[in-house]
Amino acid sequence: MAKGRGAAAALVVVLGLVVAWAPSPSSAHVQIGAYNKTCPQAEDIVYKEMTAILGKSPELAGPLLRLFSVDCFSKGPYIALPTGRRDGNNSVASDVGPNSPAPGANITDLVALFAKFNLTTKDLVVLSGAHTIGKAHCSAFSGRLYNFSGANGASDPTLDANYTAALRGQCKQADVATLVDLDPPTPTVFDLDYYKQVSAQRGLLATDAALLLQDATKAYVLRQANASSPAEFFADFAESFINMSKIGVLTHGHGEIRHKCSVVNPPSPTTSSATSLAGSLLLLVLLLGAATAV
Ligand code: HEM
Repeated sequence: MAKGRGAAAALVVVLGLVVAWAPSPSSAHVQIGAYNKTCPQAEDIVYKEMTAILGKSPELAGPLLRLFSVDCFSKGPYIALPTGRRDGNNSVASDVGPNSPAPGANITDLVALFAKFNLTTKDLVVLSGAHTIGKAHCSAFSGRLYNFSGANGASDPTLDANYTAALRGQCKQADVATLVDLDPPTPTVFDLDYYKQVSAQRGLLATDAALLLQDATKAYVLRQANASSPAEFFADFAESFINMSKIGVLTHGHGEIRHKCSVVNPPSPTTSSATSLAGSLLLLVLLLGAATAV
């Protein structure tokens, strides 16, 4: 468990840096060490703050990781992410659906959606490995447990029968509230178990199972499921995560630095105060508040 906490902390520290911090508008661009000059202690402060928070509440790692993926570890992979990304000037729920993978998307849809954002099929199978931590609502996969393909009482035949029975025990039909671990053997540890689960037909989401339906993604799942070390996965994850972090970046006067992460700034704000250390730490706290609601 302690190992898992360290892993989650390392990951989320990086996320905190990316999402919560912002340089002064005049120097706004995404780069490694964007705050080295304006606030050299920035990364240390966020690292310590996030490690302490996740030490107390390790379950926040999953929601935070997902928050990052929707919006744009031995420890787990340490990812040196470029910083300085600015927030969007608008935030509308209707933008999320068409730009997010649906839980029932098939492998063709998934590959196409990732390609739309310049992400490869490898990015898809690697980033799906994030489901090694966190939880999903029953509603995200109950279609695989009951009435599969419209047949009353039918379950997805590609889902391991014992796992199906256990999931039916956790998720009654029409349950929309219960949360279930995406990777039951080690739900808070960033490791290779996700791939072991998927390869054994125990991938929770239909999109996890779909990775077995294409040669390249299947080969990656099987290789990681049988790997003796997570080194390749961690290196791949860092690379793909950086690719993902570059989607829709706003810099150089585009976008804004939000006073409150979940809400666009009111008209005619002076955003300069948000670049102060106090302002940035406030954003970090707000980010955590928003993450618990994901
Ligand atoms: C391949 C496309 C993807 C699909 C279809 C997908 C779908 C989902 C769904 C349906 C959930 C459950 C949400 C809920 O019921 O509350 C989930 C959870 C999660 N996803 Fe993904 N996801 C994808 C890619 C990613 C990526 C790229 C990342 C990050 C790199 C990610 C990280 C997570 C995490 C950490 C959780 C758990 C969140 C929590 O514990 O609250 N997913 N995903």
